[in-house]
Amino acid sequence: MKDNKTILVTGGLGFIGSHTVVSLVNSGFTPIIIDDLSNSKIEVHSRLEEICKRKIKFFNFNLSNKKSLNSVFDEFNIYSVIHFAAFKAVGESVEDPIKYYANNVSNLINLLEVMLKSNCNKIIFSSSCTVYGQPEQIPVTEDSEMLPAFSPYGETKQICEKILMDCSKSHNLKTISLRYFNPIGAHSSFRIGELPLGIPQNLVPFICETAHGIRDELMVWGNDYNTADGTAVRDYIDVNDLADAHVIAAENQENLEKSYEVFNIGSGKGHSVLEIISAFEDANNVSVKYKFASRRDGDVEKIFCNPNKIKNKLGWKPKRTLQESLRTAWEWQKRGL
Ligand code: WQD
Repeated sequence: MKDNKTILVTGGLGFIGSHTVVSLVNSGFTPIIIDDLSNSKIEVHSRLEEICKRKIKFFNFNLSNKKSLNSVFDEFNIYSVIHFAAFKAVGESVEDPIKYYANNVSNLINLLEVMLKSNCNKIIFSSSCTVYGQPEQIPVTEDSEMLPAFSPYGETKQICEKILMDCSKSHNLKTISLRYFNPIGAHSSFRIGELPLGIPQNLVPFICETAHGIRDELMVWGNDYNTADGTAVRDYIDVNDLADAHVIAAENQENLEKSYEVFNIGSGKGHSVLEIISAFEDANNVSVKYKFASRRDGDVEKIFCNPNKIKNKLGWKPKRTLQESLRTAWEWQKRGL
């Protein structure tokens, strides 16, 4: 099935993208990467070649550059595309929506135009639990309604899913949208991991930098939510498990009867911010200084998923525990790039 089939990984030097590149190589695919380094560092490329023990093609440009995108499709026989390249910080998207609509939506359109012109008809899309907004029923399933997104980031993911749904009807395009919950952790080599440039937007890297003394203290955004301890609840999934889900999707995409398919990728468990802090402290025998602050614009109160659809249909389920993910995140933090 794989026979070194070439898979284009856009955003392949990013957090989830880089871990997926490793899983693709381990499973017999040949990944090639396009990344504009807007949310990663060039050193990740050499780390990937070190971990995979082989050269990996990397092209440094933004998907708005259709000329370069066309030349990659002219040069390689691309079996399918895994599209990660997008901005992903909920809070930042509230402050700068245009940046998110330009990068996340128009660049998907560029990619699809070049794919269809090149007769590449399979795409795996990096979607997000933010498409559910604040669900009325928890855990969410793939049939849960797409309620109004709480942030421009979530809005861009809803729009992109709709574009892909429409193109899967109008063109011979097969799409799998993977709706991620909260990715955390690092590769077992501790040579790649989450690499926030500047002040971390996400919880676990901010906890890591606080424990490491880089940040004075963690702000807990809101302790007045209607949850057990007042802090917001999320579904944290190990980034390596998430990477494996992309490989399983790529291996099975041809055999899926539907041209547009959606899967939740989460642990199926909800944990509050305070629970993550104490789990991190227990797993790593460190302390994390924090204080409560007001809620962050764009945040939902509580969400976690029912991951049974991908388990039943494709046989994927999470293998790593929350403690393992928090340990690898900390080991990566101490080593860094
Ligand atoms: C988690 C919780 C914050 C930072 C992420 C990705 C998004 C999507 C879903 C993939 C919230 C709180 C955070 C801090 C805090 N994944 N927090 N202090 O917003 O759920 O979204 O997962 O597509 O792309 O960004 O993750 O880690 O930012 O926040 O209290 O300094 O931690 O308010 O309740 P979020 P997050």
